[in-house]
Amino acid sequence: MKEAARQARAESRIIGFVPTMGALHEGHTALVQRSKLECSPVIASIFVNPKQFGPNEDFAKYPRKLESDSEKFSAAGVDTLFLPDAAEIYPTGFRTYVTVEGLSDRLEGRSRPGHFRGVATVVMKLLEIVEPHYAYFGRKDAQQVRIISQMVRDLNLETEIVVCPIIREPDGLALSSRNAYLSADERRAATVLHRALEAARAKLSAGVRDALQLQSTMRKVIAAEPLARVDYAEIVDADAFEPITRIARPCYAVLAVFLGKTRLIDNLYVEPVGDSEELAYHL
Ligand code: PAF
Repeated sequence: MKEAARQARAESRIIGFVPTMGALHEGHTALVQRSKLECSPVIASIFVNPKQFGPNEDFAKYPRKLESDSEKFSAAGVDTLFLPDAAEIYPTGFRTYVTVEGLSDRLEGRSRPGHFRGVATVVMKLLEIVEPHYAYFGRKDAQQVRIISQMVRDLNLETEIVVCPIIREPDGLALSSRNAYLSADERRAATVLHRALEAARAKLSAGVRDALQLQSTMRKVIAAEPLARVDYAEIVDADAFEPITRIARPCYAVLAVFLGKTRLIDNLYVEPVGDSEELAYHL
């Protein structure tokens, strides 16, 4: 992989990179499509990274669909598919980890201790191997993208991180490889994340700027769904991912909700338009 990437660089080509854990859906292929507009070659990776799963999480049962994933990536126009195995990425004696302090402890990091250390470490390694000019990530994992951007800045990496919109099912459910775990009833109930975010957006449109009020709106929507159990529902600053009290700067409404044993996340990104009171919403 390193040789191929170096060769592409030597030919002054622009390398685009889409790192994934496989179990591909249209969110992933949208990243490839975006990358193809800006780069050639487009390199994608599939690696189910053991270091970002907690001991009681779904590493063993995480969907592995190499054959159909390869077909999907190839149909989307991926030029090179990088499929390292765990022993290559973490050889015996591996000891070096990347920790992005502070940002990694809250929200997802609080619910999934060690998760972002695993993500930052593997993404650092993948960026080091592929040396892409651009790397593409979905905004559904907003905290992950924030952490990776911080790491790239702090460690002087020469990759630009490109954040792409969330892709949703027609009923609003954000695409996620973990949606495959949902039973039919849970799948129906899973629209509750989108409904809660829509409710927050409606309040914002009506002029509400108090974060606690927005939070309680989201919680009420989730509480009304019998199959759902909230993990967190917060309004956080888009830079520090710390809770805020008023909506006056770019922020996220972020949610993590259990449907049975499946934990799904989603978010609404809100930013003021210029100096006005108006807000732009990215759902
Ligand atoms: O978002 C993911 O699929 C993973 O966290 C990533 C970025 C591929 C690292 O394993």
